[in-house]
Amino acid sequence: MPDTDLTLARTGGRKLARIVYDEGQIAARVGEMGRQIAAEIPEGEPLLVLGLLKGSFIFVSDLVRQIVRPLQVDFLVASSYGSGTTTSGTVNLLYDPNADFRDRHVIVVEDIVDSGTTLNRLMPMLKERGPRTLEICTLLHKHIATNLDWEPRWVGFDAPHEFLIGYGLDHSEDFRNLPFIGSL
Ligand code: IMP
Ligand code: MG
Repeated sequence: MPDTDLTLARTGGRKLARIVYDEGQIAARVGEMGRQIAAEIPEGEPLLVLGLLKGSFIFVSDLVRQIVRPLQVDFLVASSYGSGTTTSGTVNLLYDPNADFRDRHVIVVEDIVDSGTTLNRLMPMLKERGPRTLEICTLLHKHIATNLDWEPRWVGFDAPHEFLIGYGLDHSEDFRNLPFIGSL
């Protein structure tokens, strides 16, 4: 049980069910992912790492430091409308860097893939901007989505079907600052 003084100080006394991935496990896996990405994107070709806010903010900041090669970083804020279980809705881009995708390898970084709705809606919009390649890197994948149009190329952990918080993931905006990933 993650009920150390530090954790309770961070949660304001709220007890969590359990730690699912601790700091050491996350750091080790993020290091592996960074090395894989560096090895798989051709040398000398421009790379843009595009984080989806807010959930990916800690993951992106750790991940890019483990990708040992030149790259650029930007962020997108997307919010989905319409039914959560269909891909027919639209994604509203609240912040859109309008970065030039042409000739660049673009990696979209997500915190967690759950229903897949966000990515199913967002990826076709990004594809239209003409990147050299377009791939997804997600820290967590619940493998619930049955209609994923875009399968992530890099996955940190196959996550349990629980509501996860910490390391950027929130519950009603709380708990993003936990250094580990826990279950409520
Ligand atoms: P999807 O569109 O259903 O795949 O959901 C993706 C988004 O929902 C993620 O980027 C998260 O912001 C949020 N989300 C899904 N599952 C969880 C969870 O277990 N904890 C916290 N946020 C989640
Ligand atoms: Mg999110």
